Amino acid sequence: MKSTTILAALPCASLLLLSFSQIVAAQTEDIPSAEAGALPTNNHGHGHSSRPPHHGDQKPNFLVFLTDDQDRRINSLDYQPLVQKYLRNQGTEFTNYFTTTAMCCPSRVSLWSGQFAHNHNVTDESPPHGSYTKFVSQKLDQNWLPTWLQQAGYSNNYIGKFINGVSPTLKQAPKGFDTAHWEPLVAPNIYTFYDPVFSINNGPLTSYKGLYQTDVISDKSVEILDTLAKNTSQPFLFVISPTAPHDEVWITGNGTLFTPPVPAKRHEHLFKDVKIPRHPNFNPKHNDKPSWVGTLPRLTESQVSALDDKYRARLQSLQATDELVERIIKRLEHNNQLDNTYIVYTTDNGYHLGTHRMYAGKQTAYEEDTNIPFIIRGPGVAKGKKSNAVATHTHFPATVLHLANLPVPDSLDAHSIPVLENKAVYGKDQPTEAFSVEFWSQAFMENTTARFDANTYKSVRLIGQGYNLLYTVWCTGEKEYYDLVEDPFQIKNIYKSTKPAFLNRLDALLNVLRTCKGPTCRDPWAVIHPAKPSSSSSSSSADKGHGHGKEHKNSVRSLKDALNKKFDKYYAELPKFAFKECLHYYNPTNEETAPRHTEL
Ligand SMILES: *[C@@H]1O[C@H](CO)[C@@H](O)[C@H](O)[C@H]1NC(C)=O
Ligand SMILES: *[C@@H]1O[C@H](CO)[C@@H](O)[C@H](O)[C@H]1NC(C)=O
Ligand SMILES: *[C@@H]1O[C@H](CO)[C@@H](O)[C@H](O)[C@H]1NC(C)=O
Ligand SMILES: *[C@@H]1O[C@H](CO)[C@@H](O)[C@H](O)[C@H]1NC(C)=O
Repeated sequence: MKSTTILAALPCASLLLLSFSQIVAAQTEDIPSAEAGALPTNNHGHGHSSRPPHHGDQKPNFLVFLTDDQDRRINSLDYQPLVQKYLRNQGTEFTNYFTTTAMCCPSRVSLWSGQFAHNHNVTDESPPHGSYTKFVSQKLDQNWLPTWLQQAGYSNNYIGKFINGVSPTLKQAPKGFDTAHWEPLVAPNIYTFYDPVFSINNGPLTSYKGLYQTDVISDKSVEILDTLAKNTSQPFLFVISPTAPHDEVWITGNGTLFTPPVPAKRHEHLFKDVKIPRHPNFNPKHNDKPSWVGTLPRLTESQVSALDDKYRARLQSLQATDELVERIIKRLEHNNQLDNTYIVYTTDNGYHLGTHRMYAGKQTAYEEDTNIPFIIRGPGVAKGKKSNAVATHTHFPATVLHLANLPVPDSLDAHSIPVLENKAVYGKDQPTEAFSVEFWSQAFMENTTARFDANTYKSVRLIGQGYNLLYTVWCTGEKEYYDLVEDPFQIKNIYKSTKPAFLNRLDALLNVLRTCKGPTCRDPWAVIHPAKPSSSSSSSSADKGHGHGKEHKNSVRSLKDALNKKFDKYYAELPKFAFKECLHYYNPTNEETAPRHTEL
């Protein structure tokens, strides 16, 4: 986050005028709901026989736990026994789930809009290129998952962190969240674990002095669930977004400073001997990374020890989230709504600690920052399974719409995720094997106010039969290629020793993905190898229950197909991708193809 802009100046006086705690009144967990067991009465369903197993015509509910900066690759989920018990053991975990821009604001906008950052253009955390004001000014809330659900009769509810820049002066709920319960954490108390400040439906600020943020969210969420249970004929979306395990953030005269997250008092003693897993890419001796990452010295012993402390603080701070998950699931069960609710646990972006000598943070295309938790349980979802289907935040809206049996707009940049055990209800062959990871902002490390300018890059991340790779072009002109089958920790950049014929395919793919939109993001190979008109049989509407079915009849649908030698010449002659300069925003004319001969 870039300096002071995340926090609109808040006069101290207004903080003092806040009304105080309603929290005691919220402790009503054991009072039975009068309406529990009421029969669903609505009629929204379209009655497709191949639909997920919902109760009658009742639309399913969606409850989303959205944490902040939670890693998957350094094992944070393993320290959440209740997430294990209620979600991993009762649902399916997607191990190849990614964010396409590793920073909260762009990533959260992709989650709800189903668009890559190059399409929604919220590319930073603070103005002018990011934050809530940019999100609203682009009118991104007019036509996105929350409004689609709202139009279908859903009650949409939100509590916790939304996106950066929800400040007390901005009394504007995003459309889609403006008719039920909208209760964001507001600046400057979004990233402080004690004394959280909320505003309900744009009303006055309420501060909870001395109380722990996640616990306040937990109490409030139970109240909201009980209200929702009073009318079971109206389906709901309920997003619960605590800040853990994000650092605390302080705006100082010298810039933005980060300090480790603060656990609830009852969890301070935990995990005393736990350290960051020493994966081969942890503070490595050998570092061949491009751009600013390549300039980093090895971390000193005292820095490593500070990082281990931060790791423990993160795990401790997640314990209240773990308890929140159990409490909410028990409450849903108590309200007779568990069986008709899809529950998702995910985060905005991943996090690295000591990876490739980087101190702590996100913002790179490496696995620690992009590969994130995604667990779902609910009707028809397999229990205790792991799926390696490739998916990203851009897949989320189509997934929800599909499960709700609602039309899936063709404008979405990704298909629905095959979350149901009975895969037959999904497209037979999911073409998602490649997606882009993109970034246009400075990088920073959460131990210093220093910023690194040259952190603009675009990557192809591809996981398919026999392939698992990352190819990145930086704004500096540097390139990286990792074969994750051989090198899962991305230690050896083998760009220079890889056959040009192979890299040409990846470059062509990157050239499509960098500006793709809707169908061209969903099947980029069809742009490079367009279908022959004669072979098409207007299949696009036959599949409308799935939204995005098999839209192209092109013969090349994967890297494997594209590697056919007969295309070598074709790929060699295609233009190459390159940035002109290191800009901190998305300007398509800065990202143009270069003729083949400029290749180094
Ligand atoms: C994205 O937004 C920036 C301002 O933040 C603007 O300068 C740029 O032109 C926009 N890019 C596109 C492609 O609209
Ligand atoms: C319950 O929700 C339905 C669907 O939104 C609505 O038509 C109905 O008026 C609601 N009932 C009550 C008692 O609020
Ligand atoms: C800014 O940093 C300098 C040097 O580290 C320090 O002396 C000064 O006190 C800091 N100022 C503030 C407002 O934090
Ligand atoms: C922050 O971390 C980087 C390495 O990632 C290191 O080079 C730098 O010295 C650290 N700064 C402080 C103040 O510890």
